[in-house]
Amino acid sequence: MSSPRQELTSTQQDDLIATAKRAYEHAYAPYSTFRVGAAVLLEGGEVFSGCNVENASYGLTNCAERTAIFSAVSELGAKRVKIRAIAVVNDRNVACSPCGACRQVISEFGPDADIFYIGPKGIQRSSMRELLPHSFSSESLS
Ligand code: THU
Repeated sequence: MSSPRQELTSTQQDDLIATAKRAYEHAYAPYSTFRVGAAVLLEGGEVFSGCNVENASYGLTNCAERTAIFSAVSELGAKRVKIRAIAVVNDRNVACSPCGACRQVISEFGPDADIFYIGPKGIQRSSMRELLPHSFSSESLS
C-alpha cells in the first residue's frame, strides 16, 4: 500500500527555488536574453538543476527544465528518476510555467509532480495533471 503523499515543506520549496536561481547563472541565452533555471526534486531526495541552452539554429534550444531532467537521467539512470517537484525561475521575475515540450518530458518522469514557478505574485503552484491533461504516455503505445 502506498502512503499518502507529503506536501513539500516551505523550506523544501525555498531550497528548490534557490537551486533553480543558481542554475540560471549558467544559462546560455544570447538570442532571447531570457535566462531560465530549473531544479528537480526526485522522490529519492536528490536534486538536479539545469539552465536553458540556446543555439544559433533557434529550434535546437534546450529549455532549463529538460536540461535538469536529462542531467538526472544521465547521472542516475531512468529507473531512479521519479520527479516529485520541479521549480522554474527566470532572471526577469515573470511567472514562467514550463512550455509544452517540457510538460511532456516532465510528465514522462513525474506524472504527479508539483510544479513551482515564480513571478511577481510570488510562488505559483500547479500539478502536472493540471498542466498536461490527457497526456501522451507509454500507456498510449500499448
Ligand atoms: N525557456 C525555458 O528554458 N523554459 C521554459 O519553461 C520556457 C522557455 C527558454 C527557452 C529559450 O531559451 C528562452 O526561454 C526563451 O523562450
